[in-house]
Amino acid sequence: MKTVQTLAALRAALADARRAGQRIAFVPTMGNLHSGHIQLIHTAKQHADLVVASIFVNPLQFGPSEDLDSYPRTLAADQDKLQEAGCALLFAPGVADMYPHGQSAQTLVSVPGVSEGLCGDSRPGHFTGVATVVCKLFNMVQPDVAVFGQKDFQQLAVIRRMVRDLEIPVQIIGEPTVRATDGLALSSRNGYLNEAERALAPVLYRTLQQIAQGLQSGQRDYAALCSGGIKALQAAGLRPDYLEIRDALSLVPASEAADSTSLVILAAAFLGKTRLIDNLTIELSPRA
Ligand code: PAJ
Repeated sequence: MKTVQTLAALRAALADARRAGQRIAFVPTMGNLHSGHIQLIHTAKQHADLVVASIFVNPLQFGPSEDLDSYPRTLAADQDKLQEAGCALLFAPGVADMYPHGQSAQTLVSVPGVSEGLCGDSRPGHFTGVATVVCKLFNMVQPDVAVFGQKDFQQLAVIRRMVRDLEIPVQIIGEPTVRATDGLALSSRNGYLNEAERALAPVLYRTLQQIAQGLQSGQRDYAALCSGGIKALQAAGLRPDYLEIRDALSLVPASEAADSTSLVILAAAFLGKTRLIDNLTIELSPRA
């Protein structure tokens, strides 16, 4: 696997494949790769002749009090994992390669609607930072297809909306969340958890499952289901940021999408200093 750092080197490395009409799949990441990221590479391989990954810890999507400086950077180990998974090319730009004219002068891509609420409320500017960097990466790599994790459900909705609204010629694939055996969604931020916190963490997914069971058994008092879930998280020692039930396609609150049969339960909660997010989609049988 080749690693390139600049746009010129990326374009040169992809020129032959493009001339030969090869299909290019792209998996953007911030590195510190785990099996969830690697699953995206495997799926990407099934949809293309050549897989390109990127590793870039994007300052534009971190708030001033967030973990930009402490975010784990493990390039050598990541390169080994990508190589083993069959990734052909890694694009690992520096901040100056990505924002050569400075971050504050950067044209921004902001996606209304789906960026609002949930993580958009707790992390102002986050999704504009994500949409901007992903838009740039799409223009740099020019992939036919790009693979994202459903673990970051709102992010995936933002990217689908951006691609639709800006007519970006790329197919977006959403890959199911890869979990540890106890249910915890794999995340680079799980590495921040101490042993006791790590033991508690699966309660987040269990709470989502309990709410899903309530919905499956016909409960439709969304507010009561969510406040029950919030209490369960608090009782376990977590500090819930949000827990909501929304329409899985539009992300409109379930209470405002009365006929929706495809719902998603989304939650974010702090465990010590670590902010965990997770979600669970559920299909309901249409109401008679
Ligand atoms: P990062 O958190 O590194 O995640 C890169 C991709 O891996 C995202 O599409 C994310 O949804 C996916 N992913 C993470 N954990 C996963 C899991 N347990 N199962 C399946 N997929 C998982 O998300 C970002 O980086 C950034 O915001 C980025 C899109 C790269 C823009 O900077």
